[in-house]
Amino acid sequence: MQNIVISIQGRRPLTGDVTVAGAKNAALPDLAAVCLSGEAIEFSNVPQVEDIKVMFAALREIGALGEMRGDLIRVAIPEIRSDEVSQGIVRTTRASILLLGPMLARHGRAKVTLPGGCAIGERKIDFHLQGLQRMGAEIRSEREFLEARCRRLRGIEYSFPARTVTGTENLLMAAVLAEGTTVLHNCALEPEVEDLVVLLRDMGADIAGASDGTWIIRGRTALHGARHRVIPDRIEAGTYLMAGCLAGNEIHVQGVVPEHLGSLLDVLGAMGAAVSVFPQALHVRGGAALAAADLVTAPFPGFPTDLQAQATALLTQAEGVSRVRETIFNDRFHHVRELRRLGADIVVKGDTAVVRGRSPLRGATLRTTDLRASAALVLGALAAEGETVIENSYQLFRGYENLPEKLQKLGADITIRRE
Ligand code: EPZ
Repeated sequence: MQNIVISIQGRRPLTGDVTVAGAKNAALPDLAAVCLSGEAIEFSNVPQVEDIKVMFAALREIGALGEMRGDLIRVAIPEIRSDEVSQGIVRTTRASILLLGPMLARHGRAKVTLPGGCAIGERKIDFHLQGLQRMGAEIRSEREFLEARCRRLRGIEYSFPARTVTGTENLLMAAVLAEGTTVLHNCALEPEVEDLVVLLRDMGADIAGASDGTWIIRGRTALHGARHRVIPDRIEAGTYLMAGCLAGNEIHVQGVVPEHLGSLLDVLGAMGAAVSVFPQALHVRGGAALAAADLVTAPFPGFPTDLQAQATALLTQAEGVSRVRETIFNDRFHHVRELRRLGADIVVKGDTAVVRGRSPLRGATLRTTDLRASAALVLGALAAEGETVIENSYQLFRGYENLPEKLQKLGADITIRRE
């Protein structure tokens, strides 16, 4: 795999506007939903990131016709021509598992690679499989493959033992074409799940739901085409907001749904950050003295695990002791070792990182292991004196559209090298 190396000269003041792209974690299940109909779906505001290219390639493998042009994708799968989503294509993403439910629902067969994604700890899929099996699928796992088949799936009542984002999405997509009614309890409430529900309804699915995490889905025999605008990426927005807290004169993060970022805004408020909320934008003025704060990751509307690494980087510049507790993934503190190389004072005890601030950071050579950890290192580098080199930055491009260009436009001194 290509090594992408990012170099950042820190302590350059950031100023100006940055517009966030569509949400990667909404666009992935939205694209998987294309499998549910033979008609075309037109997407706008699709982020131009590696994970989406991988998903699009996976759709093409199974028979999709269509094109990506900038943030637009028009795609249809008139006929599912292959049961198999090959390993090479989906090794690094969750694309494969998201295709399992919809392929079974429409085609009755699927062979997918056991999912990859970030190195952030155990990422189980037992609830996905349990739900699909109860709906009538036979699933066999063979080394890195899952092979599943079914006649028409049937509706069930299922309560997720714990909230899972892609698990909820998978069973929703399976249920919309199942025979009879499916009732799913304890579903994930993330905005990305809501975005998928909006698309499925526009495709003709009958989904009734409540904000308490129960969806009632009456299966249809077919769905039709639709047009869909992907919601803005709250994680990208949150990352730029924190960049503004660290290095900003004044940054305007545009194209945001502020309600999607309530828990982050609460933490930034507790830290004393100067953030103003507008209907579709968040403005931050850097330079405010930041105070320590505690946070605990939790399913939406709790603090997103996908912003934990970036928040940890930010807290190194806050006065006092902060505690960051990670409750979603069991190994998501890889960024801590690297932030310490920059001079951060962070100790991990079990599921909690204890951050003592404020530490003067100095540039260093870092290596990153996952997408959000990479973003955290970029934030650390922006706040550090001198040059930071981040190796293995490929990860960043899986989920952040044009990050170096967007930061450059704000005034950062950042270059990338492909080896
Ligand atoms: C989604 O992953 C996101 N990925 C992740 O984003 C995000 O970190 C995560 O949700 C949590 O918000 C996509 O949407 C493509 P989960 P997912 O199933 O669905 C356990 C990023 O950086 N669990 O909600 O894989 C699991 O082990 C990425 O963009 C089971 O036990 O996460 C974990 O501890 C990384 N059994 C917890 O639930 C299951 O069957 C939450 O996982 C499923 C999950």
